[in-house]
Amino acid sequence: MIDLYCLAGPVFRFLGPETAHGLAIKALKMGIAPTCPVVPDDILKTRAFGMEFPNPLGLAAGFDKDAEVADALLAQGFGFVEVGSITPEPQSGNPRPRLFRLSEDGAIINRMGFNSRGQRSAAMRLETRLKDAARSPGIVGVNLGVNKNSPDPAMDYVRGVRTLGPFAGYLVINVSSPNTPGLRALQSRDRLEEILSLAIDARDELVGRRPPLLLKISPDLGEEDKKDIADISLALGIDGLIATNTTIDRDSAQLRAAAKDERGGLSGKPLLAPSTRVLADMYKLTQGRLPLIGVGGVASGEDAYAKIRAGASLVQLYTALIYHGPGLVRRICRDLAARLRADGFKRLGEAVGADHR
Ligand SMILES: Cc1cc2nc3c(=O)[nH]c(=O)nc-3n(C[C@H](O)[C@H](O)[C@H](O)COP(=O)(O)O)c2cc1C
Repeated sequence: MIDLYCLAGPVFRFLGPETAHGLAIKALKMGIAPTCPVVPDDILKTRAFGMEFPNPLGLAAGFDKDAEVADALLAQGFGFVEVGSITPEPQSGNPRPRLFRLSEDGAIINRMGFNSRGQRSAAMRLETRLKDAARSPGIVGVNLGVNKNSPDPAMDYVRGVRTLGPFAGYLVINVSSPNTPGLRALQSRDRLEEILSLAIDARDELVGRRPPLLLKISPDLGEEDKKDIADISLALGIDGLIATNTTIDRDSAQLRAAAKDERGGLSGKPLLAPSTRVLADMYKLTQGRLPLIGVGGVASGEDAYAKIRAGASLVQLYTALIYHGPGLVRRICRDLAARLRADGFKRLGEAVGADHR
């Protein structure tokens, strides 16, 4: 088979990163993006939050911010796709340029600032896809953000739960993006307790299906914050954690690319070790009682396997897709299955948290 990404990849790299991203979304919408379906493999099937995932590799939030191409992305072989972050009202985000490739470092810096077309239009698109009963839809999680000038961020999340919850495989309360002023302060004990309690109540009031509710955390948390988050998550009974978002830490990254001093969140290779450390910390602090999604710097089967052994039931990626193209999903799944078998595991669930035993 001709790998179309090999032909189109250099063109994409020549374009500005945001232009390339817009083109990728268009190609996915038109159904002309190269596909590399994953060969199903029973060892990769996994259950989390009461749902069955065909494989544990998902697309992280930020690629399909407006829930425009979730099904086309699932067709690329992802076991699940997370759309968003979606804000209640439409907003344009920060001025451009706001997305920077750090090719030498296998990294990205972004300060998008929650550009979003808002909850109402996303809800319509997500509802339409669920109405198409001709196919069994894959799992699409919905990541909720807040408007920049919101007077009441907690209510922004509640609105998100009410408007998008009915169409979400799972919901994510994102309090960890570094590009909305004040957002990450919502990870403090008092604010988090308030936000999560309100969001859980709103979720429980939904009629019909009540989607699992997850919290996405930052890699830059202190020891006390991590402990507080673990305690609150268990006490309030949220369904899982996503570790982690992008980092604002540049000291440990030793970056080489010209764009290394741009403001914003750093993702990709330099985030792999720190985000996996936070994941492992959260697994230990929650005694393995909470399903975790591990994200940050995954670019290979080895990286995905490291996240699973550190405590992840599911894994996500974003930045590596920009550098390696859609064939990466299939490669990671194939390699992960081989690693599980080589270590004598019969199914993926047995390997979750294996490093801590
Ligand atoms: C351009 C870009 C935009 C992002 N937007 C969001 C977002 O809106 N909400 C969110 O929770 N995470 C967002 N993220 C963070 C990713 O979901 C992920 O947590 C992070 O990039 C680490 O994974 P990676 O190293 O595989 O990219 C974004 C990341 C990038 C690169």
